[in-house]
Amino acid sequence: MILSLRNVSYSYPDGTPALRDVNLEVRPGEITFVLGPNGSGKTTLLLLMAGLLSPTEGEVSFDGKPVGNWFRKRCGILFQDPRDQLLAPTVWEDVALAPRQLGMDEGEVKSKVEEALRFFGIEDLALRSPLRLSRGQAAKVILAGLLAHDPEVLLLDEPWSSLDAEGTERLLELVRRFRERDRIVVISSQNSDMAAEISDTVHILKNGELVMSGPAADLLVKIEKLREVGIRPPLVPSVSKAVFPSYPPMLRLEDLLTKLGRLDPEENPSQT
Ligand SMILES: Nc1ncnc2c1ncn2[C@@H]1O[C@H](COP(=O)(O)OP(=O)(O)O)[C@@H](O)[C@H]1O
Ligand SMILES: [Mg+2]
Repeated sequence: MILSLRNVSYSYPDGTPALRDVNLEVRPGEITFVLGPNGSGKTTLLLLMAGLLSPTEGEVSFDGKPVGNWFRKRCGILFQDPRDQLLAPTVWEDVALAPRQLGMDEGEVKSKVEEALRFFGIEDLALRSPLRLSRGQAAKVILAGLLAHDPEVLLLDEPWSSLDAEGTERLLELVRRFRERDRIVVISSQNSDMAAEISDTVHILKNGELVMSGPAADLLVKIEKLREVGIRPPLVPSVSKAVFPSYPPMLRLEDLLTKLGRLDPEENPSQT
């Protein structure tokens, strides 16, 4: 099951070009990051992947078929502003939307919803109207809904921009779970440190074009190249390069600490 974009271009109805000739494939079982400055086309790319926008040119397909309405049940998305996507009268009902659409019986819906609310620590919001939630609370509600939905394709648009420390940790755990279970996970972000921590594959957008793509371990250590395309390089490779200038820069904190003799490699095997 591959999510694939072939020669995809998109211009908004007012004529604003947002993406030009994007080609990429997203594989299951890995975490894919889309990095890029404001206005580079990240949100547009995720909306196209979800089938919520249709390409002006080219094709977005999943498992060989163009994405469309049929894809809704199999794909879950967190919008950049999650307050735009809360629909139900209460938080509980909102988290229950996908499980109900998937045809689960009410007993199963109840246990899914309660587990998801607990996972994000928002049981106390269950009976609240979603209309007056803060952006971070709204993000947790949508993420709880995605946990209950458990879609094959998970798309998250700048998910860490509004989450607190606890929400950040929970979300890291959620995406790792999806990766372990061979799902497709695409995360748009400005945060190259978060990408350095968990991504497997990285795509970089600039002015609507894909300018770099590759394994995180190769791409996120190219400090000068990242600066050139407008991405703030992650901290660990930058520190690694400063401390060990003749050694290839390291991506993961565990590797840097091990090299510095501050971590026992037996207890903390390298992840790269
Ligand atoms: N609804 C819209 N109508 C017209 N132009 C838009 C709309 N949404 C986004 N754009 C434009 O499309 C380009 C890409 O935007 P976007 O995908 O939101 O980038 P990012 O998520 O990386 O900040 C920008 O130039 C933006 O101004
Ligand atoms: Mg955006």
